[in-house]
Amino acid sequence: MESPVEFSIISGAPQTGRNGCLVAGVFEPGRLSAAAAALDRAAKGFLGGIVRRGDLTGKPGSTLLLHNVPGVGAARVLLVGLGREAEFGDKRYREAIAAAIRALNVTGADEAVLLLTELAVGRRDAGWKVAHAVAVARECAYRFTRMKSKSEGPEPALRRLTLSVDRAALKRAGGGLEQGLAVAHGMSLARDLGNLPPNVCTPSYLADQARELAKRYRMKLTVLERADMERLGMHTLLSVAQGSAQPPKFITLEHRGGPKKMKPVALVGKGITFDTGGISLKPAGEMDEMKFDMCGAASVLGTMKAVGEMKLPVNVVGAIPTTENMPGGRATRPGDIVKSLSGQTVEILNTDAEGRLILCDALTYVERFQPAAVIDIATLTGACVIALGHVATGLFANDPALAREITAAGETAQDRVWQMPLWDDYQEQLKSNFADFANIGGRPAGAVTAACFLARFTKRYKWAHLDIAGTAWKSGKEKGATGRPVPLLTQFLVNRAGK
Ligand code: BES
Ligand code: MN
Ligand code: ZN
Repeated sequence: MESPVEFSIISGAPQTGRNGCLVAGVFEPGRLSAAAAALDRAAKGFLGGIVRRGDLTGKPGSTLLLHNVPGVGAARVLLVGLGREAEFGDKRYREAIAAAIRALNVTGADEAVLLLTELAVGRRDAGWKVAHAVAVARECAYRFTRMKSKSEGPEPALRRLTLSVDRAALKRAGGGLEQGLAVAHGMSLARDLGNLPPNVCTPSYLADQARELAKRYRMKLTVLERADMERLGMHTLLSVAQGSAQPPKFITLEHRGGPKKMKPVALVGKGITFDTGGISLKPAGEMDEMKFDMCGAASVLGTMKAVGEMKLPVNVVGAIPTTENMPGGRATRPGDIVKSLSGQTVEILNTDAEGRLILCDALTYVERFQPAAVIDIATLTGACVIALGHVATGLFANDPALAREITAAGETAQDRVWQMPLWDDYQEQLKSNFADFANIGGRPAGAVTAACFLARFTKRYKWAHLDIAGTAWKSGKEKGATGRPVPLLTQFLVNRAGK
Protein backbone atom coordinates (compact mmCIF):
# COMPACT_ATOMS: atom_id res chain seq x y z
CA MET A 1 0.00 0.00 0.00
CA GLU A 2 3.04 2.23 0.11
CA SER A 3 4.79 3.84 -2.81
CA PRO A 4 7.09 1.38 -4.57
CA VAL A 5 10.78 2.00 -3.91
CA GLU A 6 13.48 -0.07 -5.54
CA PHE A 7 16.50 -0.96 -3.45
CA SER A 8 20.00 -1.74 -4.63
CA ILE A 9 23.49 -2.03 -3.22
CA ILE A 10 26.71 -0.40 -4.42
CA SER A 11 30.24 -0.22 -3.25
CA GLY A 12 32.64 2.52 -4.28
CA ALA A 13 32.01 6.00 -5.64
CA PRO A 14 28.37 6.99 -5.11
CA GLN A 15 26.58 8.04 -8.25
CA THR A 16 23.09 9.40 -8.64
CA GLY A 17 21.11 10.77 -11.51
CA ARG A 18 20.67 14.51 -11.78
CA ASN A 19 17.63 14.57 -9.51
CA GLY A 20 19.25 12.49 -6.77
CA CYS A 21 20.45 12.95 -3.23
CA LEU A 22 23.49 11.71 -1.30
CA VAL A 23 22.85 11.02 2.38
CA ALA A 24 25.73 11.18 4.86
CA GLY A 25 26.00 11.35 8.64
CA VAL A 26 27.44 13.91 11.06
CA PHE A 27 28.32 13.07 14.66
CA GLU A 28 27.96 15.42 17.60
CA PRO A 29 29.48 17.92 18.05
CA GLY A 30 29.72 18.65 14.36
CA ARG A 31 32.11 15.80 13.44
CA LEU A 32 31.80 14.61 9.85
CA SER A 33 31.53 10.83 9.35
CA ALA A 34 34.06 9.28 6.93
CA ALA A 35 31.58 9.47 4.04
CA ALA A 36 30.66 13.07 4.83
CA ALA A 37 34.35 13.96 5.11
CA ALA A 38 34.97 12.49 1.62
CA LEU A 39 32.16 14.65 0.23
CA ASP A 40 33.63 17.63 2.04
CA ARG A 41 37.01 17.04 0.35
CA ALA A 42 35.31 16.94 -3.06
CA ALA A 43 33.46 20.12 -2.12
CA LYS A 44 36.68 21.82 -0.93
CA GLY A 45 35.53 22.28 2.66
CA PHE A 46 31.97 23.42 1.89
CA LEU A 47 30.36 21.03 4.40
CA GLY A 48 32.94 21.71 7.10
CA GLY A 49 32.15 25.41 6.78
CA ILE A 50 28.45 24.78 7.38
CA VAL A 51 29.17 22.72 10.46
CA ARG A 52 31.59 25.37 11.79
CA ARG A 53 28.96 28.07 11.41
CA GLY A 54 26.76 25.97 13.71
CA ASP A 55 24.05 25.01 11.23
CA LEU A 56 24.41 21.30 11.92
CA THR A 57 25.54 20.05 15.30
CA GLY A 58 24.89 16.35 14.71
CA LYS A 59 21.99 16.13 17.16
CA PRO A 60 20.29 12.74 16.66
CA GLY A 61 17.34 12.95 14.30
CA SER A 62 18.27 16.38 12.90
CA THR A 63 18.76 16.80 9.16
CA LEU A 64 20.04 19.48 6.81
CA LEU A 65 19.26 19.45 3.10
CA LEU A 66 21.79 21.16 0.82
CA HIS A 67 21.43 21.92 -2.88
CA ASN A 68 24.11 22.25 -5.54
CA VAL A 69 27.05 21.43 -3.32
CA PRO A 70 30.16 22.32 -5.35
CA GLY A 71 32.17 19.35 -6.62
CA VAL A 72 29.30 16.89 -6.02
CA GLY A 73 27.38 15.51 -9.01
CA ALA A 74 24.10 14.89 -7.19
CA ALA A 75 21.60 17.75 -7.00
CA ARG A 76 21.32 17.35 -3.23
CA VAL A 77 23.24 16.33 -0.17
CA LEU A 78 21.31 15.40 2.96
CA LEU A 79 23.27 15.53 6.20
CA VAL A 80 21.84 13.52 9.09
CA GLY A 81 22.68 13.99 12.78
CA LEU A 82 23.96 10.80 14.43
CA GLY A 83 24.52 11.95 18.03
CA ARG A 84 27.76 11.25 19.85
CA GLU A 85 29.98 8.67 18.18
CA ALA A 86 30.58 6.86 21.49
CA GLU A 87 26.81 6.41 21.91
CA PHE A 88 26.13 5.37 18.33
CA GLY A 89 24.56 1.89 18.22
CA ASP A 90 21.63 -0.13 16.88
CA LYS A 91 18.96 2.30 18.00
CA ARG A 92 20.70 5.49 16.81
CA TYR A 93 21.49 3.85 13.49
CA ARG A 94 17.85 3.00 12.88
CA GLU A 95 16.77 6.48 14.00
CA ALA A 96 19.23 8.05 11.57
CA ILE A 97 17.86 5.99 8.68
CA ALA A 98 14.30 6.94 9.66
CA ALA A 99 15.19 10.64 9.88
CA ALA A 100 16.83 10.44 6.44
CA ILE A 101 13.81 8.77 4.85
CA ARG A 102 11.37 11.25 6.39
CA ALA A 103 13.48 14.16 5.11
CA LEU A 104 13.84 12.58 1.65
CA ASN A 105 10.10 12.04 1.42
CA VAL A 106 9.42 15.78 1.51
CA THR A 107 11.93 16.54 -1.26
CA GLY A 108 11.47 16.04 -4.97
CA ALA A 109 14.42 13.64 -5.15
CA ASP A 110 13.54 10.49 -7.08
CA GLU A 111 16.63 8.60 -6.00
CA ALA A 112 19.04 8.62 -3.09
CA VAL A 113 22.29 6.95 -2.11
CA LEU A 114 22.49 6.16 1.58
CA LEU A 115 26.07 6.40 2.78
CA LEU A 116 24.81 5.77 6.32
CA THR A 117 25.06 2.01 5.67
CA GLU A 118 28.86 2.44 5.68
CA LEU A 119 28.88 3.61 9.32
CA ALA A 120 30.29 1.30 11.99
CA VAL A 121 27.40 0.12 14.20
CA GLY A 122 29.00 -1.80 17.08
CA ARG A 123 29.84 -5.25 15.75
CA ARG A 124 26.95 -5.40 13.30
CA ASP A 125 27.91 -6.62 9.83
CA ALA A 126 26.85 -5.15 6.50
CA GLY A 127 24.03 -7.70 6.21
CA TRP A 128 22.47 -6.40 9.42
CA LYS A 129 22.97 -2.76 8.44
CA VAL A 130 21.39 -3.23 5.03
CA ALA A 131 18.50 -5.36 6.35
CA HIS A 132 17.65 -2.74 8.96
CA ALA A 133 18.02 0.18 6.56
CA VAL A 134 15.58 -1.49 4.17
CA ALA A 135 13.08 -2.47 6.86
CA VAL A 136 13.16 0.99 8.48
CA ALA A 137 12.80 2.72 5.13
CA ARG A 138 9.75 0.61 4.27
CA GLU A 139 8.31 1.18 7.71
CA CYS A 140 8.58 4.96 7.30
CA ALA A 141 6.98 4.84 3.87
CA TYR A 142 4.00 2.79 5.10
CA ARG A 143 0.57 4.41 4.68
CA PHE A 144 -2.80 2.79 5.20
CA THR A 145 -5.02 4.47 2.65
CA ARG A 146 -7.23 1.62 1.51
CA MET A 147 -10.31 2.92 3.30
CA LYS A 148 -9.95 6.58 2.21
CA SER A 149 -12.11 7.69 -0.70
CA LYS A 150 -9.65 10.38 -1.88
CA SER A 151 -5.87 10.48 -1.87
CA GLU A 152 -4.40 12.85 0.72
CA GLY A 153 -1.61 14.97 -0.73
CA PRO A 154 1.06 13.96 -3.22
CA GLU A 155 3.01 10.70 -2.98
CA PRO A 156 6.72 11.00 -2.14
CA ALA A 157 8.87 11.24 -5.29
CA LEU A 158 11.50 8.76 -4.06
CA ARG A 159 11.72 5.72 -6.33
CA ARG A 160 15.23 4.31 -5.91
CA LEU A 161 17.26 3.86 -2.78
CA THR A 162 20.85 2.70 -3.11
CA LEU A 163 22.75 1.46 -0.10
CA SER A 164 26.50 1.87 -0.06
CA VAL A 165 28.70 -0.78 1.58
CA ASP A 166 32.36 -1.88 1.66
CA ARG A 167 33.46 -3.94 -1.31
CA ALA A 168 34.31 -6.92 0.91
CA ALA A 169 30.78 -6.89 2.33
CA LEU A 170 28.82 -7.02 -0.93
CA LYS A 171 27.73 -10.63 -0.52
CA ARG A 172 26.50 -10.23 3.04
CA ALA A 173 24.77 -7.02 2.04
CA GLY A 174 22.86 -8.94 -0.65
CA GLY A 175 21.58 -11.38 1.96
CA GLY A 176 20.64 -8.46 4.19
CA LEU A 177 18.70 -6.84 1.37
CA GLU A 178 16.70 -10.02 0.83
CA GLN A 179 15.92 -10.41 4.54
CA GLY A 180 15.15 -6.71 4.99
CA LEU A 181 12.66 -6.76 2.13
CA ALA A 182 11.04 -9.98 3.32
CA VAL A 183 10.65 -8.58 6.85
CA ALA A 184 9.31 -5.31 5.46
CA HIS A 185 6.73 -7.10 3.32
CA GLY A 186 5.72 -9.34 6.22
CA MET A 187 5.34 -6.34 8.53
CA SER A 188 3.37 -4.46 5.96
CA LEU A 189 0.92 -7.36 5.61
CA ALA A 190 0.61 -7.62 9.39
CA ARG A 191 -0.01 -3.88 9.67
CA ASP A 192 -2.62 -3.88 6.91
CA LEU A 193 -4.53 -6.73 8.52
CA GLY A 194 -4.37 -5.02 11.91
CA ASN A 195 -5.48 -1.67 10.54
CA LEU A 196 -8.40 -3.00 8.51
CA PRO A 197 -11.74 -2.38 10.22
CA PRO A 198 -13.37 -5.27 12.05
CA ASN A 199 -16.29 -5.37 9.64
CA VAL A 200 -13.82 -6.19 6.86
CA CYS A 201 -11.13 -8.17 8.65
CA THR A 202 -13.30 -11.04 9.89
CA PRO A 203 -12.24 -14.65 10.53
CA SER A 204 -13.27 -15.48 6.94
CA TYR A 205 -11.11 -12.62 5.65
CA LEU A 206 -8.09 -13.97 7.55
CA ALA A 207 -8.74 -17.40 6.04
CA ASP A 208 -8.83 -15.81 2.57
CA GLN A 209 -5.51 -14.09 3.27
CA ALA A 210 -3.99 -17.40 4.33
CA ARG A 211 -5.30 -18.94 1.10
CA GLU A 212 -3.51 -16.21 -0.91
CA LEU A 213 -0.25 -16.93 0.89
CA ALA A 214 -0.67 -20.67 0.36
CA LYS A 215 -1.12 -20.15 -3.36
CA ARG A 216 1.68 -17.66 -3.78
CA TYR A 217 4.30 -19.52 -1.75
CA ARG A 218 3.10 -23.10 -2.28
CA MET A 219 2.20 -23.76 1.30
CA LYS A 220 -0.30 -26.27 2.57
CA LEU A 221 -3.50 -24.69 3.87
CA THR A 222 -6.16 -26.22 6.10
CA VAL A 223 -9.19 -24.31 7.31
CA LEU A 224 -11.39 -25.97 9.93
CA GLU A 225 -15.01 -24.82 10.04
CA ARG A 226 -17.27 -24.70 13.08
CA ALA A 227 -18.53 -28.25 12.44
CA ASP A 228 -14.95 -29.59 12.18
CA MET A 229 -14.09 -27.95 15.48
CA GLU A 230 -17.18 -29.45 17.08
CA ARG A 231 -16.20 -32.89 15.86
CA LEU A 232 -12.68 -32.47 17.26
CA GLY A 233 -13.94 -31.10 20.59
CA MET A 234 -12.52 -27.58 20.53
CA HIS A 235 -15.15 -26.39 22.96
CA THR A 236 -13.22 -23.56 24.60
CA LEU A 237 -12.61 -22.00 21.18
CA LEU A 238 -16.25 -22.56 20.22
CA SER A 239 -17.47 -21.06 23.50
CA VAL A 240 -15.90 -17.74 22.48
CA ALA A 241 -17.35 -17.96 18.96
CA GLN A 242 -20.89 -18.80 19.95
CA GLY A 243 -21.97 -15.18 20.55
CA SER A 244 -20.92 -14.07 17.07
CA ALA A 245 -22.74 -14.08 13.76
CA GLN A 246 -19.39 -14.49 11.99
CA PRO A 247 -18.32 -18.10 11.53
CA PRO A 248 -15.08 -18.95 13.37
CA LYS A 249 -12.15 -20.50 11.49
CA PHE A 250 -9.14 -22.50 12.52
CA ILE A 251 -6.40 -21.91 9.97
CA THR A 252 -3.15 -23.84 9.55
CA LEU A 253 -0.53 -22.93 6.98
CA GLU A 254 2.54 -25.12 6.46
CA HIS A 255 5.84 -24.02 4.96
CA ARG A 256 8.02 -27.05 4.30
CA GLY A 257 11.37 -25.51 3.36
CA GLY A 258 13.58 -27.78 5.43
CA PRO A 259 14.43 -31.49 5.31
CA LYS A 260 11.39 -33.78 5.57
CA LYS A 261 12.45 -35.21 8.90
CA MET A 262 13.11 -31.82 10.48
CA LYS A 263 10.51 -31.07 13.13
CA PRO A 264 8.66 -27.82 12.49
CA VAL A 265 8.43 -24.67 14.54
CA ALA A 266 4.77 -23.90 15.21
CA LEU A 267 3.61 -20.29 15.44
CA VAL A 268 0.18 -19.89 17.03
CA GLY A 269 -1.47 -16.46 16.68
CA LYS A 270 -4.49 -15.11 18.56
CA GLY A 271 -7.06 -14.07 15.97
CA ILE A 272 -9.87 -12.27 17.79
CA THR A 273 -11.05 -9.99 14.98
CA PHE A 274 -13.02 -7.92 17.49
CA ASP A 275 -13.06 -8.20 21.26
CA THR A 276 -16.11 -6.62 22.88
CA GLY A 277 -15.44 -8.62 26.04
CA GLY A 278 -18.60 -10.65 25.43
CA ILE A 279 -21.12 -10.68 28.29
CA SER A 280 -18.31 -9.30 30.51
CA LEU A 281 -18.61 -6.29 28.22
CA LYS A 282 -15.72 -3.84 27.92
CA PRO A 283 -16.25 -0.11 28.62
CA ALA A 284 -16.94 2.05 25.53
CA GLY A 285 -13.76 4.17 25.58
CA GLU A 286 -11.25 3.14 22.91
CA MET A 287 -13.15 -0.08 22.27
CA ASP A 288 -12.43 0.43 18.55
CA GLU A 289 -8.84 -0.60 19.34
CA MET A 290 -10.06 -4.11 19.99
CA LYS A 291 -9.99 -4.57 16.22
CA PHE A 292 -6.25 -5.03 16.84
CA ASP A 293 -6.96 -8.15 18.91
CA MET A 294 -6.00 -10.25 15.89
CA CYS A 295 -2.48 -8.83 15.66
CA GLY A 296 -1.00 -12.12 16.87
CA ALA A 297 -2.67 -13.85 13.93
CA ALA A 298 -1.51 -11.07 11.62
CA SER A 299 2.08 -11.49 12.83
CA VAL A 300 1.91 -15.21 12.03
CA LEU A 301 0.67 -14.49 8.49
CA GLY A 302 3.29 -11.74 8.09
CA THR A 303 6.05 -14.08 9.23
CA MET A 304 4.81 -16.86 6.93
CA LYS A 305 4.98 -14.37 4.07
CA ALA A 306 8.55 -13.38 4.96
CA VAL A 307 9.57 -17.04 5.27
CA GLY A 308 7.90 -17.89 1.97
CA GLU A 309 9.53 -14.98 0.19
CA MET A 310 12.99 -15.99 1.43
CA LYS A 311 12.29 -19.69 0.73
CA LEU A 312 13.79 -20.23 4.16
CA PRO A 313 15.11 -23.78 4.63
CA VAL A 314 13.06 -24.52 7.75
CA ASN A 315 9.72 -26.15 8.43
CA VAL A 316 7.16 -23.80 9.92
CA VAL A 317 3.51 -24.30 10.79
CA GLY A 318 1.35 -21.24 11.31
CA ALA A 319 -1.82 -21.93 13.30
CA ILE A 320 -4.55 -19.34 13.75
CA PRO A 321 -7.66 -19.78 15.85
CA THR A 322 -9.90 -16.90 14.82
CA THR A 323 -13.31 -15.60 15.87
CA GLU A 324 -15.05 -12.51 17.19
CA ASN A 325 -15.87 -12.14 20.88
CA MET A 326 -19.43 -10.77 20.95
CA PRO A 327 -22.27 -10.58 23.46
CA GLY A 328 -25.70 -11.91 22.49
CA GLY A 329 -28.38 -14.42 23.29
CA ARG A 330 -26.13 -17.33 22.47
CA ALA A 331 -23.01 -15.94 24.07
CA THR A 332 -21.13 -17.71 26.85
CA ARG A 333 -22.16 -16.63 30.38
CA PRO A 334 -19.78 -16.06 33.28
CA GLY A 335 -20.01 -19.32 35.16
CA ASP A 336 -20.28 -21.56 32.12
CA ILE A 337 -18.02 -24.59 32.22
CA VAL A 338 -16.58 -25.98 28.98
CA LYS A 339 -14.32 -28.86 28.07
CA SER A 340 -11.19 -28.00 26.12
CA LEU A 341 -9.70 -30.12 23.32
CA SER A 342 -7.18 -31.38 25.89
CA GLY A 343 -10.02 -32.80 27.99
CA GLN A 344 -9.44 -30.35 30.85
CA THR A 345 -12.53 -28.41 31.98
CA VAL A 346 -12.53 -24.64 32.37
CA GLU A 347 -14.86 -22.41 34.38
CA ILE A 348 -15.30 -19.20 32.40
CA LEU A 349 -15.55 -16.57 35.11
CA ASN A 350 -14.93 -13.67 32.75
CA THR A 351 -15.82 -13.84 29.06
CA ASP A 352 -13.31 -11.06 28.36
CA ALA A 353 -10.47 -13.47 29.09
CA GLU A 354 -11.21 -15.09 25.71
CA GLY A 355 -7.76 -15.10 24.12
CA ARG A 356 -6.53 -17.92 26.33
CA LEU A 357 -9.71 -19.89 25.53
CA ILE A 358 -9.06 -19.93 21.80
CA LEU A 359 -5.31 -20.38 22.21
CA CYS A 360 -5.54 -23.38 24.54
CA ASP A 361 -7.37 -25.48 21.94
CA ALA A 362 -4.94 -24.35 19.25
CA LEU A 363 -2.00 -25.26 21.49
CA THR A 364 -3.40 -28.76 21.96
CA TYR A 365 -4.13 -29.09 18.24
CA VAL A 366 -0.53 -28.34 17.18
CA GLU A 367 0.74 -31.38 19.14
CA ARG A 368 -0.06 -33.37 16.00
CA PHE A 369 2.81 -31.65 14.14
CA GLN A 370 5.32 -32.91 16.73
CA PRO A 371 6.82 -29.45 16.85
CA ALA A 372 10.46 -28.75 17.77
CA ALA A 373 9.13 -25.62 19.48
CA VAL A 374 5.85 -23.74 19.73
CA ILE A 375 5.59 -19.97 20.03
CA ASP A 376 2.23 -18.34 20.57
CA ILE A 377 1.74 -14.65 19.90
CA ALA A 378 -1.20 -12.84 21.47
CA THR A 379 -2.57 -9.45 22.48
CA LEU A 380 -3.44 -11.27 25.66
CA THR A 381 -3.58 -8.96 28.67
CA GLY A 382 -3.95 -5.31 29.59
CA ALA A 383 -1.78 -6.25 32.57
CA CYS A 384 1.19 -6.81 30.26
CA VAL A 385 0.84 -3.22 29.05
CA ILE A 386 0.98 -2.07 32.67
CA ALA A 387 4.06 -4.22 33.33
CA LEU A 388 6.15 -3.44 30.25
CA GLY A 389 4.48 -0.52 28.49
CA HIS A 390 4.85 -0.22 24.74
CA VAL A 391 8.53 -1.11 24.53
CA ALA A 392 9.08 -4.77 25.30
CA THR A 393 6.92 -7.72 24.40
CA GLY A 394 6.29 -10.03 27.38
CA LEU A 395 8.05 -13.38 27.07
CA PHE A 396 7.11 -16.52 29.01
CA ALA A 397 8.67 -19.91 28.35
CA ASN A 398 8.80 -23.43 29.75
CA ASP A 399 12.31 -23.92 28.35
CA PRO A 400 15.24 -21.62 29.24
CA ALA A 401 17.19 -22.29 26.02
CA LEU A 402 14.17 -21.35 23.91
CA ALA A 403 13.73 -18.18 25.96
CA ARG A 404 17.37 -17.24 25.36
CA GLU A 405 17.04 -17.94 21.65
CA ILE A 406 13.97 -15.70 21.37
CA THR A 407 15.56 -12.96 23.46
CA ALA A 408 18.65 -12.97 21.22
CA ALA A 409 16.55 -12.89 18.04
CA GLY A 410 14.68 -9.91 19.50
CA GLU A 411 17.95 -8.04 20.11
CA THR A 412 19.19 -8.70 16.58
CA ALA A 413 15.85 -7.68 15.11
CA GLN A 414 15.54 -4.68 17.48
CA ASP A 415 12.10 -6.04 18.31
CA ARG A 416 12.74 -6.82 21.92
CA VAL A 417 11.18 -9.00 24.58
CA TRP A 418 11.53 -9.20 28.36
CA GLN A 419 11.10 -12.48 30.19
CA MET A 420 8.53 -12.78 32.96
CA PRO A 421 8.11 -15.63 35.47
CA LEU A 422 6.00 -18.69 34.82
CA TRP A 423 6.34 -20.13 38.30
CA ASP A 424 3.95 -22.72 39.67
CA ASP A 425 3.32 -20.43 42.65
CA TYR A 426 1.05 -18.36 40.42
CA GLN A 427 -1.04 -21.36 39.35
CA GLU A 428 -3.01 -21.21 42.61
CA GLN A 429 -4.74 -18.06 41.40
CA LEU A 430 -6.55 -20.09 38.72
CA LYS A 431 -8.28 -22.37 41.22
CA SER A 432 -11.95 -23.14 40.50
CA ASN A 433 -14.48 -24.61 42.90
CA PHE A 434 -16.39 -26.29 40.08
CA ALA A 435 -14.11 -27.09 37.11
CA ASP A 436 -10.45 -28.15 36.72
CA PHE A 437 -9.51 -24.47 36.78
CA ALA A 438 -10.84 -20.99 35.98
CA ASN A 439 -10.00 -18.75 33.06
CA ILE A 440 -8.99 -15.77 35.23
CA GLY A 441 -6.64 -15.37 38.18
CA GLY A 442 -7.63 -11.99 39.61
CA ARG A 443 -5.89 -8.63 39.28
CA PRO A 444 -2.40 -9.37 40.64
CA ALA A 445 0.10 -10.49 37.96
CA GLY A 446 -2.58 -10.69 35.27
CA ALA A 447 -0.10 -11.27 32.45
CA VAL A 448 1.54 -14.09 34.43
CA THR A 449 -1.67 -15.91 35.33
CA ALA A 450 -2.78 -15.73 31.68
CA ALA A 451 0.50 -17.39 30.69
CA CYS A 452 0.05 -19.92 33.51
CA PHE A 453 -3.34 -20.82 32.06
CA LEU A 454 -1.70 -21.54 28.67
CA ALA A 455 1.12 -23.49 30.36
CA ARG A 456 -1.45 -26.12 31.37
CA PHE A 457 -1.83 -26.97 27.69
CA THR A 458 1.81 -26.95 26.59
CA LYS A 459 3.44 -29.63 28.72
CA ARG A 460 4.26 -31.88 25.77
CA TYR A 461 6.70 -29.58 23.93
CA LYS A 462 9.06 -26.64 24.24
CA TRP A 463 6.92 -23.57 24.32
CA ALA A 464 7.13 -19.79 24.55
CA HIS A 465 4.35 -17.23 24.82
CA LEU A 466 4.68 -13.65 23.57
CA ASP A 467 2.21 -11.16 25.06
CA ILE A 468 2.15 -8.35 22.48
CA ALA A 469 -0.72 -6.34 24.04
CA GLY A 470 1.59 -3.33 24.48
CA THR A 471 3.62 -3.63 21.30
CA ALA A 472 1.29 -4.69 18.48
CA TRP A 473 -0.27 -1.28 17.90
CA LYS A 474 -0.03 2.39 18.81
CA SER A 475 -2.85 4.54 20.18
CA GLY A 476 -3.52 8.25 19.85
CA LYS A 477 -2.52 10.41 16.93
CA GLU A 478 -0.36 7.68 15.41
CA LYS A 479 -2.99 4.99 15.93
CA GLY A 480 -2.13 1.91 13.92
CA ALA A 481 -0.64 -1.56 13.89
CA THR A 482 3.16 -1.77 14.27
CA GLY A 483 3.84 -5.07 12.54
CA ARG A 484 5.59 -6.40 15.64
CA PRO A 485 6.76 -9.09 16.29
CA VAL A 486 7.27 -10.05 12.63
CA PRO A 487 10.94 -8.92 12.75
CA LEU A 488 11.60 -11.01 15.86
CA LEU A 489 9.86 -14.15 14.57
CA THR A 490 11.54 -13.93 11.18
CA GLN A 491 14.96 -13.49 12.79
CA PHE A 492 14.28 -16.46 15.06
CA LEU A 493 13.54 -18.63 12.03
CA VAL A 494 16.49 -17.25 10.04
CA ASN A 495 18.74 -18.19 12.98
CA ARG A 496 17.24 -21.68 13.10
CA ALA A 497 17.73 -22.06 9.33
CA GLY A 498 21.41 -21.21 9.75
CA LYS A 499 21.99 -24.00 12.27
N1 BES B 1 -7.60 -8.38 24.19
C1 BES B 1 -7.63 -8.18 25.59
C2 BES B 1 -6.30 -7.68 26.14
C3 BES B 1 -5.98 -6.24 25.90
C4 BES B 1 -6.70 -5.24 26.53
C5 BES B 1 -4.93 -5.90 25.09
C6 BES B 1 -6.36 -3.93 26.33
C7 BES B 1 -4.58 -4.59 24.90
C8 BES B 1 -5.30 -3.60 25.51
C9 BES B 1 -7.96 -9.48 26.31
O1 BES B 1 -8.82 -10.32 25.65
C10 BES B 1 -8.61 -9.09 27.59
O2 BES B 1 -9.68 -8.53 27.54
N2 BES B 1 -7.98 -9.39 28.70
C11 BES B 1 -8.48 -9.06 29.98
C12 BES B 1 -8.27 -10.23 30.89
C13 BES B 1 -8.98 -10.12 32.21
C14 BES B 1 -10.47 -10.19 32.03
C15 BES B 1 -8.49 -11.23 33.11
C16 BES B 1 -7.73 -7.83 30.48
O3 BES B 1 -6.53 -7.73 30.22
O4 BES B 1 -8.34 -6.98 31.08
MN1 MN C 1 -10.86 -9.84 26.03
ZN1 ZN D 1 -8.85 -10.17 23.61
